[in-house]
Amino acid sequence: MNIILMGLPGAGKGTQASKIIKKYSIPHISTGDMFRMAIKNGTELGKKAKSYMDAGELVPDEVTVGIVKERLSQSDAKEGFLLDGFPRTVEQAEALNKIMDELDSQIDRTINVEVAEEELMNRLTGRRICEVCGTAYHLVFNPPKQEGICDLDGGKLYQREDDNPETVANRLEVNVRQTAPLLEFYEKQDALVNIDGERDIDEVFEDVDEILQNI
Ligand code: AP5
Ligand code: ZN
Repeated sequence: MNIILMGLPGAGKGTQASKIIKKYSIPHISTGDMFRMAIKNGTELGKKAKSYMDAGELVPDEVTVGIVKERLSQSDAKEGFLLDGFPRTVEQAEALNKIMDELDSQIDRTINVEVAEEELMNRLTGRRICEVCGTAYHLVFNPPKQEGICDLDGGKLYQREDDNPETVANRLEVNVRQTAPLLEFYEKQDALVNIDGERDIDEVFEDVDEILQNI
């Protein structure tokens, strides 16, 4: 199954992705995670992406499309994949269609997690992430059992650099602008399913799971 998980910053893409890959054992392909890893490792890609990410802007399409194309061509993506945070522009969506054609494959579902913009600032500024396993917590909505410590492995929790109020505001503005034409693009292809992301994490997953079971 080839799935796209869409939604504004903070909609819960990463949170739902962890649950999906646990149940369905498909690779989780997050462009944001790939860029953060490249920055951590000091690679050329990381150098290209850093200034955009720090400002809450989108990394240029040619860079982003290139890494996705390479990743989707790897053998583990042949039996299915979950794309998280890509595509984010109509140009990226068109490039993805071309990549899928070249791979003689197709996208089965595009799941769009809907959350009102006002809620997203709270979600992102309160997010804390485990430095060991990458699990996302929230100070209020999804707190760890022990403050500052991951429930799963005892790893320390940190705050992402772009989760400060100023950068979040710009990420939301940039993404809101790109989202409407992108949703229209997928509506036309009949592959779009909208789900209400303003519910409990497990309730949202029930909807996601039902969609995936029906593919
Ligand atoms: P990326 O890493 O993709 O970030 P994003 O889209 O801004 O999304 P997030 O990871 O911040 O949010 P999420 O939806 O995964 O939410 P989460 O589950 O953590 O991109 C970062 C940057 O990389 C971009 O700004 C850009 O520069 C670049 N980039 C990436 N892809 C690109 C592309 N395709 N093109 C160009 N540039 C690109 O949840 C958020 C919080 O809410 C957590 O604290 C969580 O615990 C909590 N939460 C989750 N679900 C619920 C719920 N149901 N109820 C209450 N709280 C919840
Ligand atoms: Zn952890």
